[in-house]
Amino acid sequence: MRAVDIIRLKRDGGELSPAAIDSFVRGATNGDGWAPYQLSALLMAVFLKGMSPSETAHLTRAMADSGKVLDLSDIPGPKVDKHSTGGVGDKTSLILGPLAAACGVIVPMMSGRGLGHSGGTLDKLEAIPGFRVGLNESEFRSALRNVGLGMIGQTSDVAPADKTLYAMRDVTGTVECIPLITASILSKKIAEGINGLVMDVKCGHGAFMKTRADAKVLAESLVRVGTANGLKTIAVLTAMDVPLGRYVGNTLEVIESIETLRGQGPPDLTELSVLLAARMVKLAGLAADDSTAIQKVRKALDSGAGYEVFLRCVEEQGGDPLALEDYTRLPTAPRTMYVVAPRTGFVSEMTAGAIGVSSMILGGGRERAEDGIDHAVGIVCRAKPGERVLAGQTIYEVYYRSTAKLMSALPLLEESFTLADEPPPAQPLLLEEIA
Ligand code: URA
Repeated sequence: MRAVDIIRLKRDGGELSPAAIDSFVRGATNGDGWAPYQLSALLMAVFLKGMSPSETAHLTRAMADSGKVLDLSDIPGPKVDKHSTGGVGDKTSLILGPLAAACGVIVPMMSGRGLGHSGGTLDKLEAIPGFRVGLNESEFRSALRNVGLGMIGQTSDVAPADKTLYAMRDVTGTVECIPLITASILSKKIAEGINGLVMDVKCGHGAFMKTRADAKVLAESLVRVGTANGLKTIAVLTAMDVPLGRYVGNTLEVIESIETLRGQGPPDLTELSVLLAARMVKLAGLAADDSTAIQKVRKALDSGAGYEVFLRCVEEQGGDPLALEDYTRLPTAPRTMYVVAPRTGFVSEMTAGAIGVSSMILGGGRERAEDGIDHAVGIVCRAKPGERVLAGQTIYEVYYRSTAKLMSALPLLEESFTLADEPPPAQPLLLEEIA
């Protein structure tokens, strides 16, 4: 079938055969039979007409097979990863990876960089001086054998079709499409050589999916398509209206992760990290039920075993282990300013999206994939929804380098919270689970 016939078929709402999908994925991988404008035309047709579960499952597998699929079967133990659809202050990977590994899970974590208002695990890890996220395959395997955890970036040979298609979607208005998001996320996860995946699908102001209904549709698609491809997949839907924890920005998030692994973390971050690590432990077959899994993870946290794994991971990947004890060895912003409460009252709202964008404007994130970042800058939320503040009390501590960037971020920060006479109702973090 020619590219134009495949485009016409989808344009008219037809179902693509596995052969047609393979042809499209070959076109995205090496240009074979497809011009770039034809690839984008098919993306738009899929955006408008959708894909059936079986088309999405086949697209996912074909995209995973477009590059190297790791075979980790020679490393003993169940291999399970977690993937989050992205949020503000979401540093759970740095905490749950070590916790799950301390419980016996092998965690081959391939992560991305931050884009837009949401942070990325690789950028956070690179705030630790010397930490190498670019391990080669044999170094990655050694990390998994020695520590049970490896945290790296996707190499260029993982799902190359997704690289082309994601870049095209970004500039053709076809990012927000459930089958394409599903195939994009899962193709890269399947290529990691894992047996199980816990998906944290975030919803709210600070998330990619703004409504719970949309997040649920994405979560169901991820679970269905992952499972159809032989990957045990479960999803949790979690709220992302307020930043997770109190620290937003790369160095700051490393510090909050270390504090959490030492048992001194904020309750929301600790609770979610423990919950996700426990789901990984259960998916790995290392606990019979949720409560046993939670107990195991809690023990790894309370005994310091999770912290030990993180320390060994940092050493294994070339990072400065002393930086985990002495935070002055991490990149530090030269200036600080404070956003204060204009009156006494309860913090009733705090929009995660605005805080994420502010951190990006300060230099902590990137607007385009090729931009550099400043690890040192960021925001500490000294007050969060439900807490009472007095007039003049600090809401945000802002760590910055450039006054011009601070001036752009400040109006957003000043508008990102509201104060009320009564505390707001408590909001649950875990909204729903899909298995
Ligand atoms: N993350 C991805 O990896 N792909 C998408 O399409 C969306 C989010």
